[in-house]
Formats: sequence, structure tokens, C-alpha cells
Amino acid sequence: MDVSGLFDSHCHLDDAQFDGDREAVLARAHEHGVSLCLTAGSDVASSLACALLAQTHTGVYASAGVHPHAAAQVGDDYLTKIQELTSRPRVLAIGEIGLDYYYDNAPRDIQRTRLLEQLALADELNLPVILHVREAHGDLQAMLSERGTRHAGGVIHCFTGSLESAQHYLKLGYYIAFGGALTYKNADRIRQVAAQLPMDRLLIETDSPYLAPVPLRGKRNEPAHVRLVCDALAAVRGMTPQETADITRRNAKELFRIPG
Ligand code: NI
Repeated sequence: MDVSGLFDSHCHLDDAQFDGDREAVLARAHEHGVSLCLTAGSDVASSLACALLAQTHTGVYASAGVHPHAAAQVGDDYLTKIQELTSRPRVLAIGEIGLDYYYDNAPRDIQRTRLLEQLALADELNLPVILHVREAHGDLQAMLSERGTRHAGGVIHCFTGSLESAQHYLKLGYYIAFGGALTYKNADRIRQVAAQLPMDRLLIETDSPYLAPVPLRGKRNEPAHVRLVCDALAAVRGMTPQETADITRRNAKELFRIPG
């Protein structure tokens, strides 16, 4: 059955893997009922590319930020550049930012410094944040707790943590986004978490071109496949895919303050 009004709340349309067929990818997303998506920046150059994509494509929004993988490679003026990008049309959030202690592509103290700098910028600009966290929930929760409930909110993207961890983020004002992992065969634990959280705080996403859902696992992911994530969430919640698409779209629009 067709579903309309899907919102892929996190993808990387600027990724080089889309260079050959970006327009076709976006057309396919529309054909599959994905009316909205947010392309997340991962460093200054990628954030600019995302802003330009948002500016030139209906239904595409962007965020600007430096990913923990790139935390050690920023210039002195990176914060000013990120701030400038957020003043462009359709750039709605700071992200993706966070901590990644799995890959450790940048030293952890530098990751923490970049995160704190960008959280402070988001506070100053009163913008929501998009958070990436891998094997660092303890540190992230400590840092976020210290800052208190976030008025402009944010989202923990591609969530695969525990129920307790999710509840901690919810209490601090964050949404929880589920991606392709929700469809993996061995992911009963993630599905159980997704079944128990308040529906009005959940988003869906692809993180494309990464993390393709089953049965496309291992292939290039694209926003059209958010339908598979939607179906998986609908199944664990006992809802129809259309209801799930509608609620998660409303949630994302509220978080990113998209009118209408
Ligand atoms: Ni991402």
C-alpha cells in the first residue's frame, strides 16, 4: 500500500555516493511518498553543500555542523562558518555533532570540545541539535545533563541504545530517531525499545547512503528506503504505516519548526 508524507529526518544527500544520480535519487524519494528530508552536514564543506541542496530542492532541509569524525580537522573559524550557514534559508539545525568512541577518528577530548562548542552555538542561536553518539552514551548524557533541559530540543539520531538511555534523553528534551537498524534480524532489543517510547517523540530516518535497511543491507541507502524503517516501526507499534508516517512527520516538523 502506498504511504505519503514520509519525512526522512536524517540523510547525507551531499555524499559523493550520490554524485552520479542525485536528482534521480530525489525523484525516487518523491515517488515513494517521501515528501520531506533533512540532509545533515558533517563538516563545513559538507554543510555548505547541504545548504545549497536545500535551497534548490523542494522538500529538502539541511543542518550545519561538524561530525565527531571530523572534530580534529576544523579551521579556527569553523564556528563562525557554521553560524553563517544557519542563517541561510532552510538550514534548520546544528548537526550532526556528537561523540563517537567506536571509531575514535578524533581524540576524545577534541570530540568533547567540538561538541561543547557547537552545543553552545546552538543554545545561542536557539536551534535544535542533531546528535550522533556511538559507544559514548555515558559521556554524552553527562554533558547534556549538565546543560539541563534543552529548550530548542534535538534528536539522538540512529538510536540503538537501551531503554533507560532513551528515557534519559527524552527527559532532557530530545527526540529519538530510528533508522535501518530497526529492520535488522538480530535487532529485537532495538525493536523492544522502539515499542516502549512515547510515539510523539519518535522520528524515522535513513542516514543514507549508510545503514541500508533489510532487505537492502550492505547496498547504498537512499531516502526512498525510509519507507522500510516506517514499516518496521509501524509493526512494533501496531499501527499502520500511514499513521506512523503521519506521526513521525509531525514530530520532525515540530522539532525542526517547519510550519504547516
Ligand atoms: Ni548521519
